[in-house]
Amino acid sequence: MVDSVEGIRRSESFFGEPGVAGFTHRAFTKSMGLDDEDLARPVIGICNTYSELNNCHRHFQELCRAVKYGVLQAGGTPLEFPTISLGEIFQSPTSMLHRNLAAMDTEEMIRSQPLDGVVLLTSCDKTTPAALMGAASADLPAIIVSGGPMLDGYFQGQTLGACTDCRRLTAEHRAGTLDDATYRAVEDGIVRSAGHCMVMGTASTMNSLTEALGMALPGNGAIPAVDSRRLRLAQASGRRIVGMVAEGLRPSHILTREAFENALTLLAALGGSTNAVVHLPAIAGRCGVDLPLDLFDEISRRTPLLANMRPIGAYQMEKFFHAGGVPTMLRELLPLLHGDQLTVTGATLAANVADAAPADGDVIRSLAEPLQPEGGLAILRGNLAPDGAVIKHAAASPELHRHRGRAVVFQNLDDLRARIDSPDLDVRRDDILVLQNVGPVGGPGMAEVGNFPVPARLLREGVRDMVRISDARMSGTAFGTVVLHVAPESAVGGPLALVQDGDEIELDIPERRLQLLVDDAELAARRVRWQPPAPAYSRGYGRLFLDHVNQAPLGCDFDFLVGSDPTGVDQQAK
Ligand code: FES
Ligand code: MG
Repeated sequence: MVDSVEGIRRSESFFGEPGVAGFTHRAFTKSMGLDDEDLARPVIGICNTYSELNNCHRHFQELCRAVKYGVLQAGGTPLEFPTISLGEIFQSPTSMLHRNLAAMDTEEMIRSQPLDGVVLLTSCDKTTPAALMGAASADLPAIIVSGGPMLDGYFQGQTLGACTDCRRLTAEHRAGTLDDATYRAVEDGIVRSAGHCMVMGTASTMNSLTEALGMALPGNGAIPAVDSRRLRLAQASGRRIVGMVAEGLRPSHILTREAFENALTLLAALGGSTNAVVHLPAIAGRCGVDLPLDLFDEISRRTPLLANMRPIGAYQMEKFFHAGGVPTMLRELLPLLHGDQLTVTGATLAANVADAAPADGDVIRSLAEPLQPEGGLAILRGNLAPDGAVIKHAAASPELHRHRGRAVVFQNLDDLRARIDSPDLDVRRDDILVLQNVGPVGGPGMAEVGNFPVPARLLREGVRDMVRISDARMSGTAFGTVVLHVAPESAVGGPLALVQDGDEIELDIPERRLQLLVDDAELAARRVRWQPPAPAYSRGYGRLFLDHVNQAPLGCDFDFLVGSDPTGVDQQAK
């Protein structure tokens, strides 16, 4: 096991060192009230992403306390530490810019501290992939405890979802069908509790996938944030990490190719967020597992959509939990899964879900009677996206699945904001809206702007969806005929940069095709004239990001972070 030197636990190499290093390690730890008996136990780090700037994590002090009780019960010594906390709501220009920073923070804290194992508290969109990336690279025993989803939102008897309804109601407000006072009043009831967004958005998706990956205890994905079962799961996770340290059970034993295929299958059956198509290759890259985009398409085609969850279906996480949550999904999906995969419980995925409730046939459909015969996501290719593009076709308008239209091009976000609602904009309902320079480098950070709004004039005419194409991402809570993650992105010279107003574009989802109907000679001439946009940053973290971010199909990880260190975590060195 990598966390020991000559058979001793990693923490013992810090606290048992015979010279001044061991002396200071012990003396300073004793100042916190711990004694030799505490230091002789497995030391468990609890990576707490609590922050008052991250509303989704506002209950993490209580959650962390429950983990500590569990660690103590099992004979470990818990030590809580903070890492950067990424909240979707405030983080600017986009939390995606900082996901890799969070992953580095997590990895370096695990590497550099006297820990034998770690419990990672995650919830909001980027926190879960960042924790998994960092933990996979550090490769000490690790377990994820998520914060859980919010309760359903309510307004005047209507169930509301954050943030599917934030978008829907804003579109109605812009269309003039919802008055100012009602629009403002909804704010009071849509986000009712602690927790992450409660539709099947990115947070619900990524936290659900922790179970399919085998990195969290069964139930972790869906127990509501404020349900006491969440605290009991946290406590059980605290107990379990101590056992994992004793067994030497590390992420590299769990995060195999088959585990990622299980996650892809669950993603398809959940109709989960397109953001998982960025995060999973990034996590897999840390484990030496290649997850090509075509594998997402292949698995999505053979996996029926089972979860009747918004933004595709009818329900939200509270109902999903009461219908059995992720264990029920996995039990139903077992014929399509690698059930023999090892998980943090020390047992296999199949054993973990053997006693799960059967699918209720409504919130969670059966394989025999799915919501749709295929999963929610498709990978498109063509001369407009040689390295692929992503669409959540299950949340797209069926009449637009095969569509040819005239391009209306916006060169960047500023251009979009300046012209989208202009009465002079030459746009028709069957046009295709194209947004350039919003990818990983161009954004920068590949913000969730791919589901940019339909022009106000068309909204007032009753149009609610149009084909939109960009190199951006979109929120997992969003819907519409939105082609995302076009690669290579326009800012590095991908063909998306060459599209001009009036060009014809063909989208054919059944054929998985995205084609710019302009001849090659004309495209070659445009390429000669093309100039890259000025870089968004000249210094600091932004500069590091621009210099090292990989394209979307590789998960937007930094090129120098891919993989893990074969020499293992750093031992105490002073
Ligand atoms: Fe945190 Fe939606 S804002 S999950
Ligand atoms: Mg989001």
